[in-house]
Amino acid sequence: MENLEALTPREIVARLDIYIIGQNKAKRAVAIALRNRTRRLMLPEDVRDEIAPKNILMIGPTGVGKTEIARRLAKLCGAPFIKVEATKYTEVGYVGRDVESMVRDLMAMGFNMVKTEMQEKIKGEAEKQVEEALLDLLLPGSGKTPPLRPPFPNVQSLPVSGDGSVTIGNIHLQSDPAVDTVREGDSSGTQEGAPVGAQNSSSVKSDMNSTREKFRAMLREGRLEERIVEVQVQRRQPMPAMEIFAGGNMEDLESSMAAITNMFTGGKSRKKNVTIREAREILLAEHLDKMTDPDKVADEARKRVQEIGIIFIDEIDKIAIRGERGGGQDVSREGVQRDILPIVEGSTVNTKYGVVDTTHILFIAAGAFSVSKPSDLIPELQGRFPLRVELESLHAEDFRRILLEPKNALTSQYTDLMSTENVTIHFTDEAIDRMSTLAAEVNSRMENIGARRLHTIMETLLEDLSFNASELSGQTIEITAAYVDERLKDVVQDQDLSRYIL
Ligand SMILES: Nc1ncnc2c1ncn2[C@@H]1O[C@H](COP(=O)(O)OP(=O)(O)OP(=O)(O)O)[C@@H](O)[C@H]1O
Ligand SMILES: [Mg+2]
Repeated sequence: MENLEALTPREIVARLDIYIIGQNKAKRAVAIALRNRTRRLMLPEDVRDEIAPKNILMIGPTGVGKTEIARRLAKLCGAPFIKVEATKYTEVGYVGRDVESMVRDLMAMGFNMVKTEMQEKIKGEAEKQVEEALLDLLLPGSGKTPPLRPPFPNVQSLPVSGDGSVTIGNIHLQSDPAVDTVREGDSSGTQEGAPVGAQNSSSVKSDMNSTREKFRAMLREGRLEERIVEVQVQRRQPMPAMEIFAGGNMEDLESSMAAITNMFTGGKSRKKNVTIREAREILLAEHLDKMTDPDKVADEARKRVQEIGIIFIDEIDKIAIRGERGGGQDVSREGVQRDILPIVEGSTVNTKYGVVDTTHILFIAAGAFSVSKPSDLIPELQGRFPLRVELESLHAEDFRRILLEPKNALTSQYTDLMSTENVTIHFTDEAIDRMSTLAAEVNSRMENIGARRLHTIMETLLEDLSFNASELSGQTIEITAAYVDERLKDVVQDQDLSRYIL
């Protein structure tokens, strides 16, 4: 993840260029919007509060990169980000304040993000502690801190053989001279499991210490990974969610009920036999949780969400309605717009991490607006998205670049897939050209589904190969223009066929 604050608009655009071809206007708009928020944060507080984010409305046909821009933006910036589909709120069962769940989701996302960051910082320290804890599990009583129980019974639980070596599972640990010395000084040395009398407790300690160090070495070498130990597994207790009193929805109600049940049952913990490998993970998660203060995380997360959070509302055109009102569905669509309005305008929302003010959250809405127009949105909402950017529809030349240039380009995806079968495929330039023109042709003749057309074309083109790849191991397949023609020309020319296949 990239640090957003450090990126200039030009750099943000450059990062987006790695995955998205063209659409420069849209890229510039989101880059500026992001940068403006970091600029705002550098201003004195009284000025800062006056500057509202310039929300963006992305308009463009289907399959030209609207969602993709948002997705990539989310990945590259360190800002809390979520994407919601506006249509989700028109579904049966969603009413009224449920649109606030987008803010709650954003806050949860921010919380996890900050938590991960904080835990990353203390991971080294936590790992050290976990190593000690693992050694305690392997050799109870050998730690520097005295265990609750007296050490001797635990020492006895270690099978010490006559020569003073220790065997645990199938690992045989040769005793070092120090151990032997102790054993020789002890008359009952041959007796298994009772190495020393009480008068020698200090040497027992050094004894245990050296054993512990040997185990530490083995642990680090990964030789104890499969050993079984018993750990206490805490049932993860969610933060007490008492939003039920602040008025919430079904989800909140459920988690509140769970919290209450937990209060009565006291949060379960049980013993479990696991391998060292698993124990390490369990203990690490536990230590990390113990070492991070949820309140601190929530504070930082809230700050971040309020100042630089981004909510991407996709498919907003689907809740825009034209003229005639009435009829169940439409009412609910306009209702959703009315519900969204206060959130976009700036209001406070209760979340389980505290109250979040949405005034400075950046909203990016996107829609194809093929049936409806932005002006079909209720006026108040239109006014809340002052920046309009249009995405251009894509043509053959764009398709050619989309096939080749993005880091995750389709051609390299298929090349990678085939390489797992030990089949090398290579696309010639002419083949790429042919595919792009075919895609553009089908788009213009039938429905224009933008770059999504490339997916169907590619799939049809390589169907044979994908099926037979396992028998072609070791071969190199050249995808030429002729190959493309052979597989696709008939389909493209036959209207009926292409309607179903491409
Ligand atoms: N300009 C582009 N550069 C690279 N890939 C693109 C571009 N536009 C679209 N794609 C690819 O096409 C697919 C669909 O794009 P995307 O999801 O962004 O469409 P959209 O504009 O959100 O359409 P819709 O309005 O249907 O939601 C994605 O897999 C994406 O990788
Ligand atoms: Mg989309």
